[in-house]
Amino acid sequence: MALADDAHPMRKVTREVAYSKSGWSRGRRDKVRELFDSMAQEWRTKSSEGRLLALRDALERGGLERKARCFEVGCGSGNVTSLLMDYFDQTVCLDLSFNMISLVSQDVDRFLADASNLPIKDASVDVLVVLNMFLFPEEYSRVLKAGGSILWASSDGDRTPIYLPPVEVAKALGDEFSCLGADAGQGCWLVGTKMATFD
Ligand SMILES: C[S@@+](CC[C@H](N)C(=O)[O-])C[C@H]1O[C@@H](n2cnc3c(N)ncnc32)[C@H](O)[C@@H]1O
Repeated sequence: MALADDAHPMRKVTREVAYSKSGWSRGRRDKVRELFDSMAQEWRTKSSEGRLLALRDALERGGLERKARCFEVGCGSGNVTSLLMDYFDQTVCLDLSFNMISLVSQDVDRFLADASNLPIKDASVDVLVVLNMFLFPEEYSRVLKAGGSILWASSDGDRTPIYLPPVEVAKALGDEFSCLGADAGQGCWLVGTKMATFD
Protein backbone atom coordinates (compact mmCIF):
# COMPACT_ATOMS: atom_id res chain seq x y z
CA MET A 1 0.00 0.00 0.00
CA ALA A 2 1.31 3.45 -0.87
CA LEU A 3 2.04 5.89 1.92
CA ALA A 4 0.09 9.12 1.43
CA ASP A 5 2.49 11.60 -0.10
CA ASP A 6 4.25 13.69 2.53
CA ALA A 7 2.03 12.29 5.32
CA HIS A 8 4.90 10.40 6.89
CA PRO A 9 7.39 12.65 8.71
CA MET A 10 10.32 10.84 7.07
CA ARG A 11 8.79 11.43 3.61
CA LYS A 12 8.59 15.12 4.44
CA VAL A 13 12.27 15.16 5.39
CA THR A 14 13.13 13.21 2.21
CA ARG A 15 11.48 15.82 -0.01
CA GLU A 16 12.77 18.82 1.90
CA VAL A 17 16.43 17.76 1.92
CA ALA A 18 16.29 16.95 -1.80
CA TYR A 19 15.20 20.48 -2.63
CA SER A 20 16.90 22.61 -0.01
CA LYS A 21 20.11 22.52 1.97
CA SER A 22 18.22 24.01 4.91
CA GLY A 23 15.94 20.96 4.99
CA TRP A 24 18.60 19.13 7.02
CA SER A 25 19.22 20.44 10.52
CA ARG A 26 21.16 19.23 13.53
CA GLY A 27 17.85 18.33 15.17
CA ARG A 28 16.74 16.23 12.22
CA ARG A 29 20.12 14.55 12.00
CA ASP A 30 20.00 13.56 15.67
CA LYS A 31 16.45 12.20 15.40
CA VAL A 32 17.26 10.21 12.25
CA ARG A 33 20.40 8.79 13.84
CA GLU A 34 18.52 7.80 16.99
CA LEU A 35 15.79 6.12 14.94
CA PHE A 36 18.20 4.06 12.84
CA ASP A 37 20.39 3.21 15.83
CA SER A 38 17.28 1.66 17.37
CA MET A 39 16.40 -0.23 14.16
CA ALA A 40 19.84 -1.67 13.38
CA GLN A 41 19.37 -5.25 14.61
CA GLU A 42 16.00 -5.53 12.90
CA TRP A 43 17.33 -3.95 9.69
CA ARG A 44 19.86 -6.72 9.29
CA THR A 45 17.00 -9.19 8.84
CA LYS A 46 15.35 -7.08 6.08
CA SER A 47 16.98 -8.90 3.25
CA SER A 48 15.08 -10.62 0.46
CA GLU A 49 15.46 -11.22 -3.26
CA GLY A 50 12.54 -8.84 -3.87
CA ARG A 51 14.30 -6.00 -2.05
CA LEU A 52 17.36 -6.50 -4.28
CA LEU A 53 15.56 -6.32 -7.64
CA ALA A 54 15.85 -2.57 -8.22
CA LEU A 55 19.54 -2.49 -7.36
CA ARG A 56 20.31 -5.59 -9.43
CA ASP A 57 18.50 -4.11 -12.43
CA ALA A 58 20.33 -0.79 -12.06
CA LEU A 59 23.68 -2.59 -11.98
CA GLU A 60 22.75 -4.64 -15.06
CA ARG A 61 21.32 -1.82 -17.15
CA GLY A 62 22.53 1.45 -15.64
CA GLY A 63 25.76 1.57 -17.65
CA LEU A 64 28.00 1.98 -14.61
CA GLU A 65 31.72 1.47 -14.93
CA ARG A 66 32.89 -1.65 -13.04
CA LYS A 67 36.43 -0.36 -12.63
CA ALA A 68 35.23 2.21 -10.17
CA ARG A 69 35.37 3.05 -6.50
CA CYS A 70 31.85 3.16 -5.17
CA PHE A 71 30.71 4.81 -1.95
CA GLU A 72 27.54 3.29 -0.50
CA VAL A 73 25.91 6.23 1.26
CA GLY A 74 23.52 5.31 4.09
CA CYS A 75 24.52 1.68 3.80
CA GLY A 76 22.56 0.63 6.90
CA SER A 77 23.62 -2.80 8.12
CA GLY A 78 25.25 -3.57 4.77
CA ASN A 79 22.48 -5.77 3.37
CA VAL A 80 23.45 -5.04 -0.25
CA THR A 81 27.14 -4.36 0.22
CA SER A 82 28.30 -7.75 -1.08
CA LEU A 83 26.38 -7.12 -4.31
CA LEU A 84 28.29 -3.87 -4.75
CA MET A 85 31.60 -5.54 -3.90
CA ASP A 86 30.93 -8.11 -6.62
CA TYR A 87 30.25 -5.39 -9.17
CA PHE A 88 32.73 -2.60 -8.41
CA ASP A 89 36.50 -2.81 -8.08
CA GLN A 90 36.28 -1.05 -4.72
CA THR A 91 33.41 -0.42 -2.32
CA VAL A 92 33.39 1.88 0.69
CA CYS A 93 30.44 2.10 3.09
CA LEU A 94 29.27 4.97 5.23
CA ASP A 95 26.34 5.65 7.50
CA LEU A 96 25.18 8.12 10.13
CA SER A 97 24.24 5.41 12.62
CA PHE A 98 26.98 3.77 14.65
CA ASN A 99 24.79 0.74 15.36
CA MET A 100 24.16 0.26 11.64
CA ILE A 101 27.73 0.68 10.44
CA SER A 102 28.98 -1.67 13.19
CA LEU A 103 27.00 -4.46 11.51
CA VAL A 104 28.65 -4.01 8.11
CA SER A 105 31.19 -6.70 7.24
CA GLN A 106 34.72 -5.92 8.36
CA ASP A 107 35.86 -7.01 4.87
CA VAL A 108 34.81 -3.62 3.57
CA ASP A 109 36.11 -0.12 4.35
CA ARG A 110 33.41 1.62 6.36
CA PHE A 111 33.04 4.85 8.25
CA LEU A 112 30.61 6.94 10.21
CA ALA A 113 29.57 10.14 8.41
CA ASP A 114 26.71 12.47 7.69
CA ALA A 115 26.00 12.38 3.95
CA SER A 116 25.04 16.06 4.00
CA ASN A 117 28.65 16.92 4.83
CA LEU A 118 30.90 14.17 3.53
CA PRO A 119 34.55 13.97 4.60
CA ILE A 120 35.46 13.43 0.94
CA LYS A 121 37.42 15.69 -1.43
CA ASP A 122 35.70 17.61 -4.22
CA ALA A 123 35.42 15.80 -7.57
CA SER A 124 37.02 12.59 -6.30
CA VAL A 125 34.27 9.94 -6.45
CA ASP A 126 33.37 7.64 -9.36
CA VAL A 127 30.03 6.28 -8.08
CA LEU A 128 27.72 7.01 -5.17
CA VAL A 129 25.10 4.38 -4.36
CA VAL A 130 22.08 5.81 -2.57
CA LEU A 131 19.57 3.06 -1.75
CA ASN A 132 16.48 3.87 0.33
CA MET A 133 18.38 6.91 1.50
CA PHE A 134 18.07 10.70 1.39
CA LEU A 135 19.27 12.65 -1.59
CA PHE A 136 21.61 15.57 -0.82
CA PRO A 137 22.07 16.82 -4.40
CA GLU A 138 24.59 19.59 -3.77
CA GLU A 139 26.85 17.48 -1.58
CA TYR A 140 26.69 14.45 -3.87
CA SER A 141 27.50 16.64 -6.84
CA ARG A 142 30.41 18.25 -4.98
CA VAL A 143 32.19 14.92 -4.38
CA LEU A 144 31.48 13.36 -7.79
CA LYS A 145 34.00 13.56 -10.61
CA ALA A 146 32.78 14.83 -13.97
CA GLY A 147 31.48 11.65 -15.61
CA GLY A 148 30.84 10.11 -12.19
CA SER A 149 27.39 8.75 -11.33
CA ILE A 150 24.79 8.54 -8.61
CA LEU A 151 22.92 5.27 -8.49
CA TRP A 152 19.75 6.15 -6.60
CA ALA A 153 17.32 3.29 -5.95
CA SER A 154 14.25 2.45 -3.92
CA SER A 155 13.56 -1.20 -3.06
CA ASP A 156 9.84 -0.76 -2.47
CA GLY A 157 8.92 2.54 -4.13
CA ASP A 158 6.18 4.57 -2.51
CA ARG A 159 5.50 1.91 0.12
CA THR A 160 8.54 3.21 1.98
CA PRO A 161 8.99 6.52 3.80
CA ILE A 162 12.38 7.52 2.33
CA TYR A 163 11.20 7.75 -1.25
CA LEU A 164 10.86 10.28 -4.03
CA PRO A 165 9.45 9.53 -7.48
CA PRO A 166 12.40 9.13 -9.91
CA VAL A 167 11.23 12.14 -11.90
CA GLU A 168 11.67 14.23 -8.76
CA VAL A 169 15.09 12.73 -8.12
CA ALA A 170 16.10 13.84 -11.64
CA LYS A 171 14.62 17.30 -11.01
CA ALA A 172 16.42 17.66 -7.67
CA LEU A 173 19.73 16.62 -9.27
CA GLY A 174 19.26 19.30 -11.90
CA ASP A 175 20.51 19.94 -15.42
CA GLU A 176 24.07 19.03 -14.54
CA PHE A 177 23.04 15.35 -14.54
CA SER A 178 21.96 13.16 -17.40
CA CYS A 179 19.56 10.53 -16.07
CA LEU A 180 18.15 7.16 -16.99
CA GLY A 181 16.04 4.86 -14.90
CA ALA A 182 13.39 2.15 -14.73
CA ASP A 183 10.87 0.40 -12.50
CA ALA A 184 12.01 -2.98 -11.20
CA GLY A 185 9.95 -5.31 -9.03
CA GLN A 186 8.23 -3.19 -6.39
CA GLY A 187 10.91 -0.55 -6.65
CA CYS A 188 12.67 1.69 -9.10
CA TRP A 189 16.08 3.16 -9.84
CA LEU A 190 17.76 6.08 -11.54
CA VAL A 191 21.36 6.56 -12.60
CA GLY A 192 22.36 10.21 -12.86
CA THR A 193 25.68 10.94 -14.52
CA LYS A 194 27.39 14.24 -13.88
CA MET A 195 28.20 15.87 -17.15
CA ALA A 196 31.53 17.54 -17.81
CA THR A 197 31.29 21.32 -18.02
CA PHE A 198 33.27 23.42 -20.49
CA ASP A 199 34.05 27.00 -19.53
C1 LIG B 1 16.16 3.22 5.16
S1 LIG B 1 17.79 2.83 5.70
C2 LIG B 1 18.48 2.09 4.24
C3 LIG B 1 19.71 1.27 4.52
C4 LIG B 1 20.29 0.58 3.30
N1 LIG B 1 20.67 1.54 2.29
C5 LIG B 1 19.31 -0.43 2.75
O1 LIG B 1 18.62 -0.13 1.77
O2 LIG B 1 19.23 -1.53 3.33
C6 LIG B 1 18.52 4.45 5.68
C7 LIG B 1 19.95 4.46 6.20
O3 LIG B 1 20.50 5.73 5.93
C8 LIG B 1 21.19 6.19 7.06
N2 LIG B 1 21.19 7.67 7.03
C9 LIG B 1 20.15 8.50 7.19
N3 LIG B 1 20.54 9.77 7.08
C10 LIG B 1 21.87 9.75 6.82
C11 LIG B 1 22.85 10.74 6.60
N4 LIG B 1 22.55 12.04 6.61
N5 LIG B 1 24.11 10.35 6.36
C12 LIG B 1 24.45 9.04 6.33
N6 LIG B 1 23.56 8.05 6.54
C13 LIG B 1 22.29 8.39 6.78
C14 LIG B 1 20.44 5.63 8.24
O4 LIG B 1 21.23 5.58 9.42
C15 LIG B 1 20.05 4.24 7.70
O5 LIG B 1 21.04 3.30 7.98
